[in-house]
Amino acid sequence: MSENNIIEEFKSTEPQKKQKDVLTGHTYDGIKEYDNPLPGWWLYLFYITIAWSVVYMFYYHFTNLGPSSADEYVMEIQKANESKAGMGIATTAFNFDDVKITNDPAALNEAKDIFVKNCVSCHAQGGAGAIGPNLTDDYWIHGGSPANIAKVIYQGVPEKGMISWKNIISNEQIVKLVSYIKSLRGTNPPNAKAPQGNLEAEN
Ligand code: HEC
Repeated sequence: MSENNIIEEFKSTEPQKKQKDVLTGHTYDGIKEYDNPLPGWWLYLFYITIAWSVVYMFYYHFTNLGPSSADEYVMEIQKANESKAGMGIATTAFNFDDVKITNDPAALNEAKDIFVKNCVSCHAQGGAGAIGPNLTDDYWIHGGSPANIAKVIYQGVPEKGMISWKNIISNEQIVKLVSYIKSLRGTNPPNAKAPQGNLEAEN
């Protein structure tokens, strides 16, 4: 096909059915093949996409002008982490051995609010125990050290009905909850649930 022909074809806006059918001359089992040109509008679009892809590759992949898919991924992860941090949700691993009990009344009050909102449905007011165990006695199923209590709250015991709170309550708030639970020891709330687990001497 000569260069002139291509240009002519480009400009052709004539509907295809009005064009004269051209045969390739190939015959396969009696089936003949047309050699009609593609419609001009179709070809234009096709060449525009090729030109566009070059610009696109250059802009997004070969230069730093626009973000590549990998850059966009990193940016979105970063954004999600930031918004998670804004909601006070744990994005970092919990170092259970670092849990330090606080006696700060503001922290204990905040923890009490969290406990009332999220925990009393199973552990009852004041941690007396209902579906979940009594949290005021010296008996612990999973250990009564601050690290163990934090671990149970963070990881949960899903198969026993205690969910993991790590995506709902921040690490910092879990530390306060542990302090609050520790402060309940020996409070003898009314209707306290019978002890479960092992007796542990207070450390
Ligand atoms: C849907 C019910 C439910 C809710 C809500 C719930 N728990 Fe529990 N929790 C349980 C059950 C059941 C267990 C006992 C798990 C087992 O038998 O291993 C448990 C165990 C625990 C233990 C370990 C007790 C032990 O003896 O070792 C702690 C600590 C605890 N929960 C704290 C909390 C805190 C804090 C919250 C609120 C943020 C909470 N739980 C919310 C059901 C619940």
